[in-house]
Amino acid sequence: MSAAPGTSTGADPIIVLDGVSKFFAGRGRGEASVARGVRAVDDVSLRIARGEVFGVVGYSGAGKSTLVRLINALERADAGTIDVDGRRVTELGERGLRDLRADIGMVFQQFNLFGARTVARNVEYPLRLAGWSRDRRRARVAELLEFVGLSDKARSYPAQLSGGQKQRVGIARALATSPHILLADEATSALDPETTRDVLDLLRRVNRELGVTIVVITHEMSVVQYVCHKVAVMEDGKVVEHGDVYQIFADPQTQATCRFIQTALKDRPAPDVVARLRERHPGRLVVVTLPDTGRGFDVTAFTTGLDARAAVVYGGVTEVGDRPFGSLTLELTGPQTEDAVTRLRDAAPVVDLGTAADPLDDARWVESIARKEGA
Ligand SMILES: Nc1ncnc2c1ncn2[C@@H]1O[C@H](COP(=O)(O)OP(=O)(O)OP(=O)(O)O)[C@@H](O)[C@H]1O
Ligand SMILES: [Mg+2]
Repeated sequence: MSAAPGTSTGADPIIVLDGVSKFFAGRGRGEASVARGVRAVDDVSLRIARGEVFGVVGYSGAGKSTLVRLINALERADAGTIDVDGRRVTELGERGLRDLRADIGMVFQQFNLFGARTVARNVEYPLRLAGWSRDRRRARVAELLEFVGLSDKARSYPAQLSGGQKQRVGIARALATSPHILLADEATSALDPETTRDVLDLLRRVNRELGVTIVVITHEMSVVQYVCHKVAVMEDGKVVEHGDVYQIFADPQTQATCRFIQTALKDRPAPDVVARLRERHPGRLVVVTLPDTGRGFDVTAFTTGLDARAAVVYGGVTEVGDRPFGSLTLELTGPQTEDAVTRLRDAAPVVDLGTAADPLDDARWVESIARKEGA
């Protein structure tokens, strides 16, 4: 997939979580149940800027859905404060909650459409709840279906639509009352890669053209790579790392983040790939992380004038947040290989895998991050 949007995001926060925790007691009674209870969200502090696409990534059970449900107050926090667009969510009464939720759209993995209602009726539903007149509703539904590219499906029923089309209806419905915030909880997890991309492109338009702040919950780092400006990585209820998407990809600080990034990036050879590469390429293998020079990366510069040859044997360059990102694995051969490695090291981060006859530890890249985590 290609670049994430480069929309400039203000520092003006629209969602602020401060020391937020949510605890679910176990099903039983008494102290034992508390022991079995879970801290679904554990002391989380986050600031999401207005106009940003903010990703929350983590494995199943990490607390992602609970976190977004706290933002629109479908769950109430046990500790901490949540502010949304100037409102202190953690102190709102019923009336305030209704206004809050009208300003926050939500889309789900399973679409949650009404099967017995047409597409138009589904999209119209929140407008009915909000008391819009029939004429205004009709005009707004037409506008929304046009925006998501489903004008011709107004009279269809959800069962007659593909997964991607259903999610478009879900997005149109979520946007009906022009919310400033859209929460997307695994919105593309039920879709194939191609359809995922279409839906993510639509979310990018929602962000850019409508200025909606979007919180994207996902377990796929490729979704974060494609659509998010910022990301928070959750594990066991905690945010273990958060920040600029490019920065997180380029310099992950925790093992959890590292594992997620490896699922999105195919450029680094896994140990089994290295073993196969060594059979074909007995020379010195080095993995070079490409620096963002703005001019591309001149691989010939490292052997020019030397009795050495560099061949690209693995890797890839992609984009994260509109910036080039990736690594190349080179096989270096010839008497002056060592000099070429020295030049490379001066220009970019290098992992030296050694030669087939004298290999260095394949897992060093992962290990170097493990060390960082311990530091
Ligand atoms: N209503 C609830 N009652 C009890 N426990 C809950 C409840 N909702 C969530 N949990 C627990 O809280 C933890 C976090 O759940 P949550 O659904 O937020 O995770 P998630 O990251 O969204 O996972 P997934 O990727 O599977 O959707 C889990 O251990 C879950 O079992
Ligand atoms: Mg979830």
